[in-house]
Amino acid sequence: LQTLPPLKLALKYFQIFPEERDPLWQNPCHDKRHKDIWSKEKTCDRLPKLLVIGPQKTGSSALHSFLSLHPAISSSFPNPVTFEEVQFFSGPNYQHGIDCTDFLFEKSANYFDSESAPKRATALLPRAKIISILINPADRAYSWYQHQRAHRDPVALKHSFSEVISAGSSSPADLRSLQSRCLQPGAYSSHLERWLRHYQPSQLLIVDGTLLRSSPAQVMDGIQKFLGVTPYFNYTQALMFDESKGFWCQRLEAGRPRCLGKSKGRKYPDMSPETRAVLSEYYREQNVELLRMLKHIGQPLPIWLRDELQNAS
Ligand code: A3P
Repeated sequence: LQTLPPLKLALKYFQIFPEERDPLWQNPCHDKRHKDIWSKEKTCDRLPKLLVIGPQKTGSSALHSFLSLHPAISSSFPNPVTFEEVQFFSGPNYQHGIDCTDFLFEKSANYFDSESAPKRATALLPRAKIISILINPADRAYSWYQHQRAHRDPVALKHSFSEVISAGSSSPADLRSLQSRCLQPGAYSSHLERWLRHYQPSQLLIVDGTLLRSSPAQVMDGIQKFLGVTPYFNYTQALMFDESKGFWCQRLEAGRPRCLGKSKGRKYPDMSPETRAVLSEYYREQNVELLRMLKHIGQPLPIWLRDELQNAS
């Protein structure tokens, strides 16, 4: 029987099992043998029980701030680069191991359309609850485009929204790349299907983002029930509509509002009806499939989805 010094042994091991170079963390607390050798300072209640997976531009920051008001729910620490997002399952933190996750809930809006996040999430958090927020994918794409412009993306600044969504295969690569990043997260049923390969339908809640925007207290009541958290938190008292912001905000003790920053709830012109019609057609099949999927797994249908499919038929 031969062996090697640790480093050489490790190199040999990864030569034989190259597929294991990319780690897949599992929860040490689910296996007594792992738990026994885990550091005494680490506890089993530090991993998130809830993931808010996005997608981007659907109201995920508003949901994050509303969830954080609940006395029994605590959120991830802000990430210095992305601010409130940890992006453990899709970003470089994953390589650093599970000590990075110290939270009861994590919101990272790009998990939704990430290839790797569902598999990694279920390996570590098989019992977690998953919340996804959906708005009309046409509005999501438009909001995302406006977000890119606000961040001075040169391609978004150079091209109108209509040019971005209608760019053909002979268009420049940078325009095609922006188009794909703009449109691809809106293929809701395909992305949800990937999550449902790893999580039971009962672990998933689809939040109607349009309702979250207009009636957040009602949505937050549904979320409290879904999570089974106590005590019941009265969001009708905790939130107030701010006329100048045009959105619901936290009600501070003095009765003043605390709203999300300028980058959430931006002011920009309405999408033109022609562009909306193009996107309605573009997303039609995905939306029909989403309707079928939500009915199949017994989730309430978002109002925007009914409206969209009624208008399109
Ligand atoms: P716009 O800025 O395009 O209006 P996310 O946090 O996932 O990036 O989503 C941003 C979107 O959340 C905003 O897009 C806005 O429409 C929506 N939103 C919903 N409720 C909100 C609230 N209470 N305050 C601010 N934005 C809210």
